[in-house]
Amino acid sequence: MFDKIYYVVEKATNMEKELNELENMSLVELAKLKSDKDVNALYLKLFGQNGNFTKLLKKLKEIPQSERPIIGILANKIKKNLEEKISKQKKLVANNQLSDWLDVTAPGTPPKLGHLHIVSQTISEVTRIFERIGFTRRRYPEIEWEWYSFDSLNMPVNHPARDDFETFFIDLPPNLKMGKVVLSPHTSSGQVREMERAGKPPIRMINIAKCYRPNWDISHTPMFHQFEGLVIDKGINITHLKGTFEYFAKEFFGKDRKIRLRPFHFQFTEPSFEVDITCGFCKGRGCRLCKEGWMELCGSGMVHPNVLKAGKIDPMKYTGYAFGWGVERTYMMKQGLKIDDLRLLYSNDIRFLEQF
Ligand code: DAH
Repeated sequence: MFDKIYYVVEKATNMEKELNELENMSLVELAKLKSDKDVNALYLKLFGQNGNFTKLLKKLKEIPQSERPIIGILANKIKKNLEEKISKQKKLVANNQLSDWLDVTAPGTPPKLGHLHIVSQTISEVTRIFERIGFTRRRYPEIEWEWYSFDSLNMPVNHPARDDFETFFIDLPPNLKMGKVVLSPHTSSGQVREMERAGKPPIRMINIAKCYRPNWDISHTPMFHQFEGLVIDKGINITHLKGTFEYFAKEFFGKDRKIRLRPFHFQFTEPSFEVDITCGFCKGRGCRLCKEGWMELCGSGMVHPNVLKAGKIDPMKYTGYAFGWGVERTYMMKQGLKIDDLRLLYSNDIRFLEQF
């Protein structure tokens, strides 16, 4: 399925390249022509029955229907430009206004500037928001032990997330305590690593990283990004968790947004919640997009005592909260974007990426 889509995009990209090349080469050639006869000949060479442009346009049939309008618009634009330049050259030839003089002081064509990928843009924005309230960005391994990804997070050996349908297992010898090697399926694997790094609370980390799960369809990519918050100190309770979400929602999504907590279940938190945010479109009144006014944002909860114990932190002395979010999803929710095929984010098609 993915190969096919990729192939389609590739074909369209090739045609786009050929059209642009033809335009550039023709303009260079045109600028050299000094007689009406030569200009007419170039016109025929491009747009005659067997002209290069005409032949190229015939290939439009081979491009799948979904891509055709984009290439069609480009072809029309190029044709119009070439025709205009040809008739201008004809006038210059007729009025004997051709000159070999080259203005070396004329400004050149500025090179096209790129920009950060939307996921990188979102990661920087999220990092800055959390840094303002004292969180520190941390990074933990993408190639991880089962222990940090599951066991230390209170996830039993038979938990469905540990199935090879849900996790990439690396073909390496397992370790007696750490278990097998996996590609980290969520940023929660950084929780116990952070407790070990800090030694003792206070902890206020934001871990933003790539995660991997073997899902590959229009709404999943096998590699995606999450950000994980972890706060541990004396006297941390649910009001701190709620306050952090309220702050984040207003900073990232806008002052008029509200959040709510809904009871849920995660192995590594107790109690656990799903956090919802008011829909940006109807502001919580309910609409076709969100149905009842709220959209799901992330998972969260108070860190389970077993997880604190795994990180050698005394649950009688310290409490904490944690949360986990998908970066791609958060970005799309902010922009009100509905990307039909999430794989577009990572297929490096410049026509898609340029829009952001
Ligand atoms: N790790 C969870 C996931 O990938 C998300 C999550 C839920 C993270 C609850 C948390 C949490 O820290 O408390 O679906």
